[in-house]
Amino acid sequence: MNSSEPSANERLLDPSKLPRHVAIIMDGNGRWAKKRLLNRIRGHEKGAEAVRTIVRTCRELGISILTLYAFSTENWQRSKAEITALMTLLERFLESERQELMENNIRLNAIGQIERLPNSTRRALKEIMDLTKDNESMTLNLALSYGGRDEILKMVRSIADKIKSGELEPEAITSEHIVENLYTGQMADPDILIRTSGEMRVSNFLLWQIAYSEIFVTPTLWPDFTKDEFFKILFEFQNRERRFGRA
Ligand code: IPE
Ligand code: IPE
Ligand code: MG
Repeated sequence: MNSSEPSANERLLDPSKLPRHVAIIMDGNGRWAKKRLLNRIRGHEKGAEAVRTIVRTCRELGISILTLYAFSTENWQRSKAEITALMTLLERFLESERQELMENNIRLNAIGQIERLPNSTRRALKEIMDLTKDNESMTLNLALSYGGRDEILKMVRSIADKIKSGELEPEAITSEHIVENLYTGQMADPDILIRTSGEMRVSNFLLWQIAYSEIFVTPTLWPDFTKDEFFKILFEFQNRERRFGRA
């Protein structure tokens, strides 16, 4: 990957204090389009370009996990036309990124209710997940038909099954049992949670995992989110004091 000259913000970063896991609520595609009197779909298309930039930037910096909220369990309530456009866009993205993911040793993983996605989307996802499964420089997690409450519900059901079958005693449940039954499994929790377009809410994203994430909300609409703004957030992250409840 040919990186251009580092910007001032990039130069300020301490490479030894980078986050391991960055999670992003990519919000504001619709508003970006509306401002320009365009169809919402155009906003999603433009948003996909911002995704490419951020994936590349994380890979260049050596961030190990990037989790992107692409479609929530609640987003199924949108119009059929918008849902179809988003799925088509996702399929196109997977196809166009295949080579870059391989060249850059990036594993693509999906979290969420994959079984609810259209057949063609599922097929495309499965293919790219199989292809990239041994890549280890970075994991790109796409949250698709993802909901934190759905994830917790599934986890409770699997633990309840183990109890029912006598495999596990209720007293023996630890947070390890919880973690291993979440979509994210053994992945480190996000160090940073970014939400674009200014909304002060988590919208059902990674409810368990963000317990101690540093939160950044920016008014920038997702299609306008740049590498340079990302560097600014990373710089601020490096200057925050994470206390984890200690004095
Ligand atoms: C985020 O942008 C993308 C998805 C939720 C799929 P939105 O589509 O939510 O954009 P706004 O919030 O309407 O501007
Ligand atoms: C969150 O954005 C979901 C994704 C970015 C995929 P939404 O636009 O769906 O969230 P709300 O409706 O503003 O809470
Ligand atoms: Mg939104």
